[in-house]
Amino acid sequence: MRVKCGTDIIEIDRIKESIEKLGNHFLERVFTKKEIDYCESKKKQKYQHYAARFAAKEAVFKALSENIQDKFSVSWKDFEVENDNQGKPKLNVNNVNLENVENIDISISHCKNYAVANVTVLIK
Ligand SMILES: CC(C)(COP(=O)(O)OP(=O)(O)OC[C@H]1O[C@@H](n2cnc3c(N)ncnc32)[C@H](O)[C@@H]1OP(=O)(O)O)[C@@H](O)C(=O)NCCC(=O)NCCS
Repeated sequence: MRVKCGTDIIEIDRIKESIEKLGNHFLERVFTKKEIDYCESKKKQKYQHYAARFAAKEAVFKALSENIQDKFSVSWKDFEVENDNQGKPKLNVNNVNLENVENIDISISHCKNYAVANVTVLIK
């Protein structure tokens, strides 16, 4: 077994600007419907949650990079953050070869200016 990790930090204003400038085109290219519904439910705080999910997608890519042969084959929406009924996030991964991956865990945090995500992957 090997443990791989990935981390990412992002300025929330960067995501806010992209959403304000590019609107649905940006949202629908990067986030799944489930993620959009979750973030929009947070009303004024929604940019923190979008930014956290953006960081999560970067972080999981870093953690899985050795398992991804062609990075252009992966799309943003292949990685999805879903919260359970306690609020704890989990990662759903689609269209990426996870043959050697035993487990993936994620942790997210955000404040007024920044969002951060850490992903840990257990490789068989
Ligand atoms: C859940 C909790 C830890 C979130 O911490 P916070 O400082 O309010 O907020 P952060 O920005 O750091 O974290 C928010 C993220 O935590 C994650 N989170 C929420 N509930 C969670 C849980 N039960 N387990 C793990 N992660 C959780 C989510 O990913 C959330 O972001 P999202 O809504 O965009 O997905 C906090 O609200 C809480 O319940 N704290 C209780 C702590 C406590 O009881 N301490 C005393 C004993 S240690």
